[in-house]
Amino acid sequence: MIETYYKSQNNDFLLAHGDTFQLLNEFSFKFNMIFADPPYFLSNGGISLQSGKVVCVDKGEWDKGRNPEEMKEFNMEWLRLCRDKLRDNGTIWISGTYHNIFSVANCLTELGYKILNVITWQKTNPPVNISCRFFTYSTEFIIWARKCEKVAHKYNYELMKKLNDDKQMTDVWRLPAIGRWEKSCGKHPTQKPLSVLTRIILSCTDKGDWILDPFSGSSTTGIAASLCDRRFAGIEQSETFCQMSKARREELDNVGVKADLKRHIVDFKTLGSSEQLNLFGGDNDIVCENTSNIYEILPFDTNPMVEQTEGKEKFFLTCYVRRTDEECEAFMNHHATTYTTTLKSKTKLAKATHLFPMVKGSVDGNYEILDSTISEDKKVHFTLGKYTPLTDEWHNIYDKMKPWELLKEDECRELCSKG
Ligand SMILES: C[S@@+](CC[C@H](N)C(=O)[O-])C[C@H]1O[C@@H](n2cnc3c(N)ncnc32)[C@H](O)[C@@H]1O
Repeated sequence: MIETYYKSQNNDFLLAHGDTFQLLNEFSFKFNMIFADPPYFLSNGGISLQSGKVVCVDKGEWDKGRNPEEMKEFNMEWLRLCRDKLRDNGTIWISGTYHNIFSVANCLTELGYKILNVITWQKTNPPVNISCRFFTYSTEFIIWARKCEKVAHKYNYELMKKLNDDKQMTDVWRLPAIGRWEKSCGKHPTQKPLSVLTRIILSCTDKGDWILDPFSGSSTTGIAASLCDRRFAGIEQSETFCQMSKARREELDNVGVKADLKRHIVDFKTLGSSEQLNLFGGDNDIVCENTSNIYEILPFDTNPMVEQTEGKEKFFLTCYVRRTDEECEAFMNHHATTYTTTLKSKTKLAKATHLFPMVKGSVDGNYEILDSTISEDKKVHFTLGKYTPLTDEWHNIYDKMKPWELLKEDECRELCSKG
């Protein structure tokens, strides 16, 4: 029985602290998918340029170079252990560069896996090559293999096609390198981007499936799994990285942070507003604090409302996204250029009543309220139904804006009255 280092409240994210070679043996469970970002064994004192400074690119003791035989022994062992933990129709993904990927591919074949694809992840924003004696390193490889030669694997073909402008998804993925927005809980030297992991998970699993990462680092795999409503178990030997993983997962309990992350991820954006904006995950229970006269779910300001249809009352929860001064201004500027004929100046625009909700916080959409109860601690528990987005406009501008800070209602009023 493995001792868990951390378990999320709803048990969908489990983390074990220790040596993967020992702990994998102790797992008595089989997974739908495995993603592994093993040591690439490339930390040999190389240098690179970061923010104008020459820095050593060594990742840590765990990534120090090994000779080919040692590397093969390492890869054979963890890949053998992982195969035992994979369901018969399950698949495994392994990332790497030329340093380790050929060794991994050979081991996979020797162990009886069947290689399905080798994805080339082309970074849209690779770091510069300061020696100017080689081509810029702008790619990494991700091998996708299934456990058994003869047992069919899962591939969400239609979804991948949808993500690729209705054309077959190819094995070259142009996705950005890690962004600053992904490092809110500290830095891992080889943290993978959420965009890459999200694509992988969406391509071959269903909601609720179990995913394993035997070298979980800061648990990007787990965070992407949570964002896609899958379940995750990770193993990591460094306590610092386990703490980082825990902080990253706990951050997702804030629905605003979760929504913010989703809005940065290429495939969620492409999936269209209805899926992208399903911020609270559809029919989940949410809890809203009743503070003064507004119901507040940080960072969304929400407002329940009622609609009469054929004598029947239907209740909705309207979600506002609160914006900073800068964001409001950017939005106003946008509108100032669009509406100058009817409303002459920005000042007037700021006072215009139809813009008030946008200054206060843009309206994101309505959730149908299926049920609501008030608990003893005066929290209102809503069970939400269908989500109907109200405006796409914000989302186009949103990408250009910095993450928000919360404006209180009186601050919003003050901002609006400034004119
Ligand atoms: C390449 S990093 C993974 C980074 C991860 N994909 C992320 O996005 O944060 C490899 C991780 O494996 C861990 N590691 C290396 N050898 C290990 C072992 N034998 N058992 C458990 N973890 C190990 C390292 O501490 C490191 O954090």
